[in-house]
This record gives sequence, structure tokens and C-alpha cells, in this order.
Amino acid sequence: MRFNLSEINELIRERRTIYPEQFSDRKVHKEQIEVILNNAQWAPTHGNTQPWRFKVFTEEGRQTLSTFLGGAYLELTPVKEQSDLKLKKLVSRPLKSSVVIAVCMERQKEETIPEIEEIEAVACAIQNMYLTCTAYGLGGFWSTPKLIYSELMNDFLQLGQKDKCLGLFYIGYSKEQWPKSHRKPLEYSTEWRTQ
Ligand SMILES: Cc1cc2nc3c(=O)[nH]c(=O)nc-3n(C[C@H](O)[C@H](O)[C@H](O)COP(=O)(O)O)c2cc1C
Repeated sequence: MRFNLSEINELIRERRTIYPEQFSDRKVHKEQIEVILNNAQWAPTHGNTQPWRFKVFTEEGRQTLSTFLGGAYLELTPVKEQSDLKLKKLVSRPLKSSVVIAVCMERQKEETIPEIEEIEAVACAIQNMYLTCTAYGLGGFWSTPKLIYSELMNDFLQLGQKDKCLGLFYIGYSKEQWPKSHRKPLEYSTEWRTQ
């Protein structure tokens, strides 16, 4: 065994979604964010295209993001479907987090790699971010409100037309007890074929 598998198993199983409402005011250091993003970059990537792009919102940048999210929600959601609760969450979450990272996929120029595989690579990068957060005792939350897939969002993040924002990743220290979760038994999801 090259690594301590029991620790790795525990890290993977302990990874949890921690919502910004559960975050304390404690600040996450820039060096920690850099480790989180460096680990993200070690995700598998078809053709080594490394399609991930990170837009990191800290300090006053969180207010800029909050203002944008609130405005975009109101602009993109028909009045009848608007929810005060959703709006409040969108606006307040960046401010409750020490850092928010918009995780994006930059479409390969040649388009030889299928888009889904570029998206899958970025999803793997996000899992690396989650696991690194867990190792630090940091909470993380991968959020995908509908508006992240809009043109408005691409403009705000200065993404190209074929690029995509795949999520807002909120990071902060949890002020609450680390939650437990469960998964179905392996038999539920696995079929063994021996012939
Ligand atoms: C692609 C993706 C998008 C997600 N988007 C949201 C979201 O918009 N809102 C939300 O509450 N949770 C979101 N989640 C987090 C899931 O709700 C969470 O992973 C699930 O409840 C399992 O909890 P755990 O992460 O603690 O194991 C997302 C997860 C993934 C993989």
C-alpha cells in the first residue's frame, strides 16, 4: 500500500456539504485557497486540456458577487416565479462565506474533446476541492442555481460564449457539528459481470 488507505477512506466519507448558513466568521487563508485550487488542477483531464478556470471572490469581491447574483436572479426569473427566500439566499451566501469560487469550464478551442468530458474533468476538480476542504476541516458547498448557466453569468465572469460556469463553490469554517450522512449499500449500484 503506497498511501494510508484507512485515512483516505475516512476523508472521502467525511466530505460533506456544509452550507454558508453554517459558516462562522473565521477567515480562510489565501495559502489554503491556493492549496485547494492546486489540488483541483490535479484532476484527470482528457487530452490534458485542463479546462478548469477559477474566479475567486474574497473580501469586497464577495459583495460584488452578491449584488450581481441578486440582480441576475430578478432579471432572469419571471416575476410570478420569484421567491424571496431564494433571492435572500443568493444575496446572503457570498457574504456568509470567507471565499466563493466560481468554477468554470473553458471550452477547448479545437473542440476535439467532447464537451461532456471537459465538464466531467471540472467536476473531478471540484471533488478535489471538496476533499482538500475536508482535510483542512473547512466546509464546502457546490451550488448550482439556474442563473449560473446564463449569458449574464458568462459576461460577469468574462467567459467566452462556449465556456460554462459549473458552480459556485462556497468555503468557510463550520460553526456547527460536522454532519453525518449515509450511502446505499454497494449492491444497489453495482452489477458484477463475470461472463
Ligand atoms: C453537480 C452538483 C450540484 C449541486 N448543486 C446544489 C445546489 O444547487 N443546491 C444544494 O443545496 N446542493 C447542491 N449540491 C450538493 C448536494 O445537495 C449534496 O452533495 C447532497 O445533498 C449530498 O450531501 P453531501 O455532499 O453532504 O454528501 C450539488 C451537488 C452536485 C454534485
